[in-house]
Amino acid sequence: MWPEVFGRIAPVEIDLGAGDGVYAEARARSEPGRNFVAVERLLGRATKIAKKAIRGGLGNLKVLRLESSYFIRNLCAVGTLDAVTLRYPDPWPKRRHHGNRILNSKFAGELAQAVWIGGLLKLTTDDSEYFQWACGEVDQCRAWKVEPGWTGREEPTSEFEEQFKKEGRSVYRRAWVRI
Ligand SMILES: C[S@@+](CC[C@H](N)C(=O)[O-])C[C@H]1O[C@@H](n2cnc3c(N)ncnc32)[C@H](O)[C@@H]1O
Repeated sequence: MWPEVFGRIAPVEIDLGAGDGVYAEARARSEPGRNFVAVERLLGRATKIAKKAIRGGLGNLKVLRLESSYFIRNLCAVGTLDAVTLRYPDPWPKRRHHGNRILNSKFAGELAQAVWIGGLLKLTTDDSEYFQWACGEVDQCRAWKVEPGWTGREEPTSEFEEQFKKEGRSVYRRAWVRI
């Protein structure tokens, strides 16, 4: 699947809910040996990412205007991803809305199907309650183990990260390795 999409064999990383693609573009630019797919459901944002990839001549960055869980569940070939990134996913703070949260135990299981052994799932959020909740959900899935060496601080920033930084909010990060 991915060799046809990118025209070459290289590790593939997915940025789910990529927003305006600031992070995905930075990664694609600084890591030409890796392939990146930005998944974003809003047309305006997906278009911005596509323009960044075209203007920057970034053949290693593709965009999918799609719902993240639909993509992972139905379109992504099993065991083909090296990493999945979730940066500032919508926290849905009200309890009655928790069912809308993307990183639940079911989705963690579906991600485990898509990511190969040794691959990473990375979460960054400004919402401590959501962070604790999501960590508990991923830990229910036996296919993931916390990667203690990953701090996420070496990663480039994103649009929402910059906004939250200005507001002085805390950042919570965790990565899990596919076992
Ligand atoms: C809070 S923003 C974070 C954007 C970006 N990751 C960043 O750090 O700047 C969340 C983004 O995820 C997108 N999004 C939310 N749910 C989604 C879903 N189920 N599938 C695809 N995109 C989604 C939203 O449209 C929005 O652009």
